[in-house]
Amino acid sequence: MAVPVLELKNVFKEYGGEVPYLALKGINLKINEGELVSIIGPSGSGKSTLMHILGCLDKPTSGEVLVEGKHASKMGEDELSQVRLNSLGFVFQAFNLASTLSVFKNVELPLLINETGEARREVIVNKCLQTVQLSGKKQNFPSQLSGGEKQRVAIARALSNDPKIILADEPTGNLDSHSSKPIMEFITNLSKKHGKTVILVTHDAHIAAMAERIISIKDGKIEKDVKRGRK
Ligand SMILES: Nc1ncnc2c1ncn2[C@@H]1O[C@H](COP(=O)(O)OP(=O)(O)OP(=O)(O)O)[C@@H](O)[C@H]1O
Ligand SMILES: [Mg+2]
Repeated sequence: MAVPVLELKNVFKEYGGEVPYLALKGINLKINEGELVSIIGPSGSGKSTLMHILGCLDKPTSGEVLVEGKHASKMGEDELSQVRLNSLGFVFQAFNLASTLSVFKNVELPLLINETGEARREVIVNKCLQTVQLSGKKQNFPSQLSGGEKQRVAIARALSNDPKIILADEPTGNLDSHSSKPIMEFITNLSKKHGKTVILVTHDAHIAAMAERIISIKDGKIEKDVKRGRK
């Protein structure tokens, strides 16, 4: 059996503070390369917490996170940053675009951090913007874009380092169904056509049904994990 790209072993997450809260209660999960996985569940059930832990943006209180078979807890901060930068692409609901940077510069950012040369950066950014059909807006600033366009910039930015794994937390949560459909098709195609591993949190049952595997989270636990054939 191939090594899963991401694996969680008995992961618990407790948020501290005056009233500690146990948000994840013993999650065991293997995500295989190229899978398209939807994560669904009620508000507050732990979906975003799970995504942060899968993306090594947050650490579990106990349990293990393995990225391509390597224990995240045994990686130093530098190695973890490299994993986040090179293997993982994040698309979050609150786009997190830099408002003072143009569309082009936003998408370029991960490549700058990665010290990619200027000529290569230009080629990659243009290609990513073309992929999300925003070539005409590259000099615009985020405030001059619609919600759907901002979301596409966030996707282009997540793709610029050509990550193996895309983590998308309610990527169309702010958009109407008309604007969300092409974005969702685009994200699902990253797996179906380009072989990326895609993990997608959604409230929308129609969107979840586009995936070949649906994981339901309830009260910090995996309630169901259903695999079906590829659509
Ligand atoms: N930083 C924090 N400190 C304390 N509690 C937190 C923190 N972040 C999240 N929680 C709690 O952990 C639980 C899970 O939160 P999480 O954001 O993972 O839910 P979710 O499933 O993503 O919900 P939603 O669908 O509303 O986005 C919630 O009860 C939330 O209040
Ligand atoms: Mg959430």
